[in-house]
Amino acid sequence: MADTPKGTISIAPNVFWVGVKHHNRRLFDGLIPLPHGTSYNAYLVVGSEKTALIDTVNPGFDKELFDKLSERTDLTKIDYVIMNHAEPDHANAGRYVLEAAKGAKLVTSAKGKEAAMMYFNIDPERIMVVDESSKLDLGGKTLRFVDAPWLHWPETMFTYLEEDGILFPCDFFGSHLADGPFYSDEMGDELALDMAKLYFAEIMMPFRRQGAAAIEKVKKLGVKMIAPSHGVIWRDPKVILDPYTAWTSEKMEKKVAIAYVSMWGSTEKLVKALNDTLVEKGISVNIFDLTVTEIGHIAKELVDTPVVVVGAPTVLNMMHPAGAYATLLVKQLRAPTKYTALLTSHGWSGGAVKHVQELLGGAKIEILGVIDPKGPPQKEHFDQVRELADKIEEKLKAL
Ligand code: FEO
Repeated sequence: MADTPKGTISIAPNVFWVGVKHHNRRLFDGLIPLPHGTSYNAYLVVGSEKTALIDTVNPGFDKELFDKLSERTDLTKIDYVIMNHAEPDHANAGRYVLEAAKGAKLVTSAKGKEAAMMYFNIDPERIMVVDESSKLDLGGKTLRFVDAPWLHWPETMFTYLEEDGILFPCDFFGSHLADGPFYSDEMGDELALDMAKLYFAEIMMPFRRQGAAAIEKVKKLGVKMIAPSHGVIWRDPKVILDPYTAWTSEKMEKKVAIAYVSMWGSTEKLVKALNDTLVEKGISVNIFDLTVTEIGHIAKELVDTPVVVVGAPTVLNMMHPAGAYATLLVKQLRAPTKYTALLTSHGWSGGAVKHVQELLGGAKIEILGVIDPKGPPQKEHFDQVRELADKIEEKLKAL
């Protein structure tokens, strides 16, 4: 069936993208910046006997989803609504599809059943629980399921369409992007991967172990296409599988990130001195000014950066809040950071050092050094910077 002017798209014979684009969304979870908006990709699989809808859309887009479904099928005849993930950006509209399609079942994992009842008040009689032994035969289209918990909620699973080799992994392998091309290769794989890495850092990085386990399962399927529920579709699965394998296995690059904020220039002098010394040694450094950097870009750098230095002065006996936020991000995202150092300064009493130690408590990150001048840094502090650079060089060589 050809694509229609209204915008549903055929991605394989009788498999249609019926998602929506949220161009002006600028924040996710009240936390994650969305400079390019996002999409909620839903997919309709039409077999000779039955029809399945894989994932749905965010609150407020139900009507658009219904219009798109109506282009391709009689929505009252939908047999299955597959819920790979219960977060409302993919699952909220499922309840309305079930109201319209009286005979339809919600298909999900055991944990997904609990979530569907809790969040969407779905009648348990209308929920079909599936696992890796389950199979839905739609007539020439067979759906199987991959247990993939904690990517990034406990109930998550993937759906696999055997005949076409299409994996529907919901959030996993996704990217936040409303505008632009539909397939990664149309965008250029390099740019698509940059968006995917940003998404991975913000959403999936804390779940690297679970992600690695899921990737191993996916590799055994012989997947031909990966169709996530945000952003571009990957027509060559290797393009996204290889980087995801590296990111989930904590494959580090020999580089340093410095995230800093300075009030009157003392901390900044230390940051610049460290940067210059590392660069002289031939070490790659990425510097982020916390006053102007979107936090997602720092998160992306954390994916494969072993040394993360924080620069922030003491303010009112604690670390400057911008520095504290960046430090907390490293810990909360469970970044694979191996080493850190603190470049700080104070006017009368310190406090940043104690604060950062509290913030990092429990994290397995070795602190390579703390430099904390009273007032502007002097020769002894720049000597300490050189010592710190030597230690960083040594640690990077040993990786
Ligand atoms: Fe896109 Fe976890 O929802």
